[in-house]
This record gives sequence, C-alpha cells and structure tokens, in this order.
Amino acid sequence: MYEWTTDLAVDDLLIDKEHQHLFELLERYYLGLKGQKAPMDLLLLVKGLIDYAQTHFSHEEALMLKSGYPDIERHKQLHRTFMLKVNDFYTKLSDGKLVLTLEVTNYIKNWLVAHIKSEDVKIGAFLKRN
Ligand SMILES: [Fe+2]
Ligand SMILES: [Fe+2]
Repeated sequence: MYEWTTDLAVDDLLIDKEHQHLFELLERYYLGLKGQKAPMDLLLLVKGLIDYAQTHFSHEEALMLKSGYPDIERHKQLHRTFMLKVNDFYTKLSDGKLVLTLEVTNYIKNWLVAHIKSEDVKIGAFLKRN
C-alpha cells in the first residue's frame, strides 16, 4: 500500500534511508489498521510516525545548515507547517474527535511524495554540486 519507490530518490544516502523508513512506518500503520489492531496500538503507530518525521526533518535541516543550502528558511517553514497539521491530527485522534482511518496516513503520504519530489530533491542536487 505505502511504498517508497526509486522515483523518490534524492540521491543522498541518509535522506533516502530516512524517507524509506517513513514509508515503512506508514505501511506498518496500514497493516495494523487492516489487521484490526486495538485503537491504542494504532494511535501509538501514528505517534511513532509523527515523531520520526520530526527526527527526519531535524536531520535534513542540520544537513542544509552544514552544507550552506541557500533556501533553508523556506524549507524549514514547510516542515513546520506540516508538523503543526499532523500534530493537530494527532490531538484530534487521541481525543476521539477523528476516527483512525487511512485519512491521516494518506495525507502524510501525499504530502511526503509532493515534498520529496519538489523540495528534498533540490537538497540532494545541491549536496552533489557542493
Ligand atoms: Fe525529507
Ligand atoms: Fe524536507
């Protein structure tokens, strides 16, 4: 269902590895939902996914900073906006105001794919050139 594909490669070993792991976490949630895991377990999987996204963003931002990537502030803002949105999702899920379905993970997946293809590839290209 959720799978990292080579068209998402940004040609940086660390970034690609972490993106792959994000897709693995998405898939784990999907399998949990399909296997009718308990809501508490599903919630933990969502939490793990969100936390790992934050970890990944921190790594990416450190990499941008270290390499002198010129568009870092705008890129960081994109990460921040995403985190606000998914943290809001998580709050609603844990308050029972949002049902645990594929809605949240689909949102995350679609955002990730678009973000990787339009933004993270630019980091990869920059790192190659510099
Ligand atoms: Fe990324
Ligand atoms: Fe990014």
